[in-house]
Amino acid sequence: MSRRQAVRKAVFPVAGLGTRFLPATKSIPKEMLPIVDKPLIQYAVEEALEAGIDTLIFVTSRKKHAISDHFDTAFELETRLADAGKLELLARITEIVPEGVARVHVTQPEALGLGHAVLCAESVVGDEPFAIVLADDMIRSQGRGALAQMVDVHDQTGSSVIGVEEIPLEMTGSYGIVGVKPFAEKLQEIHTIVEKPAPEDAPSRLGVVGRYVLSPHVFSCLRDVQAGAGGEIQLTDGIAAMLKSHQVLACPFSGVRYDCGSRYGFIKATIDYALEHPGLRDDIIDHMLGILAQYLPEREP
Ligand code: UTP
Repeated sequence: MSRRQAVRKAVFPVAGLGTRFLPATKSIPKEMLPIVDKPLIQYAVEEALEAGIDTLIFVTSRKKHAISDHFDTAFELETRLADAGKLELLARITEIVPEGVARVHVTQPEALGLGHAVLCAESVVGDEPFAIVLADDMIRSQGRGALAQMVDVHDQTGSSVIGVEEIPLEMTGSYGIVGVKPFAEKLQEIHTIVEKPAPEDAPSRLGVVGRYVLSPHVFSCLRDVQAGAGGEIQLTDGIAAMLKSHQVLACPFSGVRYDCGSRYGFIKATIDYALEHPGLRDDIIDHMLGILAQYLPEREP
């Protein structure tokens, strides 16, 4: 029987190489790329705060200070904005992380995979359940945030919980895919998890997205994981080992997910968020109408 403990800590792995966004990600993590006017990592932190997280653990690479700079005080900028009476702008940079929320930065010395990045946070997480949020999987929800929905499930069951979404069969090679059996309304229990299977080997069409609430037992499982394809230590393999002794639930969340690690997903998110922005909406629609008038005739037979 799992222990029920509140989920207070969230790990944000931001030490990947971000090769799909080079050269933009040569010197900054892709999680600093902005959707409209906020970096991806800020959306992820806001989602975590809504879920009740009070300790933010960033796993960064040695070279990248942009993440800590973003959440730190910017003394000169703040003084200038205050002196100029630009209080709304000032609030936008000073109210990113509320008081009382702790920030910890941990280094992943080498990009050895997501599982390795999570393992780097072990000493800060300690012996309690924790969340993992991949900021490049952005989830726009109309109501309660995706991570909050998953923390609710963890609070009710005491089990580990993984965010999943039905994906097209031809896309299984880009996701961790879970095999499941029924558990409760909307929830299923995971019995298998495989990283990037070919469509014919996939146990289902349920793809893992970048939200996890995990038992700390995953750390001991990760320590035993051998590097897989590309020399990376996969989080999926650690979770697969954990399935032998711990219940892990698959949680479909309500909300729209954007794969902002890919250029197409990133551009879709930018358009959709801009359309929600009162100061941009009308201009964007006008622009899009112009584009459609130009390109639609080209596509007509
Ligand atoms: P990705 O699989 O998207 O890899 O990582 P990537 O290196 O960031 O990007 P591409 O594929 O080269 O374009 C998923 C998440 O895991 C983190 C990334 O920062 C991202 O949030 N990660 C990945 C690490 O923190 N360390 C790693 O060694 C690998």
